[in-house]
Amino acid sequence: MSILVSPSILSADFAKMGEDVAKLKGWGADWVHCDVMDGVFCPNITFGIPMIKAIRKYTDLPLDVHLMITHPERYVEKFLDAGADIITFHPESSEDVEGIIDNVHRNGKKVGLVLNPNIPVREVAKYIDMIDLVMLMGVYPGFSAQKFITDTMYKISDLKALIGDRDVMIEFDGGVSVDNIAEMESRGVNVAVSGSYVFGAKDPKEAIAFLKNRKKLDDYIKEYKPFS
Ligand code: DX5
Ligand code: ZN
Repeated sequence: MSILVSPSILSADFAKMGEDVAKLKGWGADWVHCDVMDGVFCPNITFGIPMIKAIRKYTDLPLDVHLMITHPERYVEKFLDAGADIITFHPESSEDVEGIIDNVHRNGKKVGLVLNPNIPVREVAKYIDMIDLVMLMGVYPGFSAQKFITDTMYKISDLKALIGDRDVMIEFDGGVSVDNIAEMESRGVNVAVSGSYVFGAKDPKEAIAFLKNRKKLDDYIKEYKPFS
């Protein structure tokens, strides 16, 4: 199966959010990545529970809710009620990591832990049998379109080794593009988040196809005749 793509709506048009979200399925997206930031855990404020509830009506794709907030345990239930299908959070943001994991599972949804670029893979070792996915960050939380921190690529192989034959997915978030997705996939990434690469493209459908199937990109390069 080719890599799944979860476009980040942080790069969508906030004034036309419903419209943009409704288009994602037709563009070939698999999940919808929702970046929730509180201005305390990271240096930006985006949106919260009402936005998840609002966009839920515009798509049946899984809502992949990335919490970059302090005390996520206080809000996780509300995000689930609003329609989140997958909750990911940063272990350092909560004093009750296991409580959140249990709560999400009790609600029949998926949960993952997120590692910032400077946090080693061993930090998730003690939770690895309790979670459905681990998300590695290729940038520090806060903004779309930041420069990809190339060293984060090596963590994928460490994480793959830690996961072994467990049923735990690897998601990658931040700086994903056609320039690095092939290597990510070969190292074991199952889901790629993409904000600016997808929403900034002239043709987002084509951009997602490129991310999911590099063969198409190769064909395109072969067919490209710059001076004819
Ligand atoms: C960063 C967010 C990312 C970001 C991805 O804080 O968690 O999801 O929006 O955007 P790109 O793909 O543009 O790096
Ligand atoms: Zn994110």
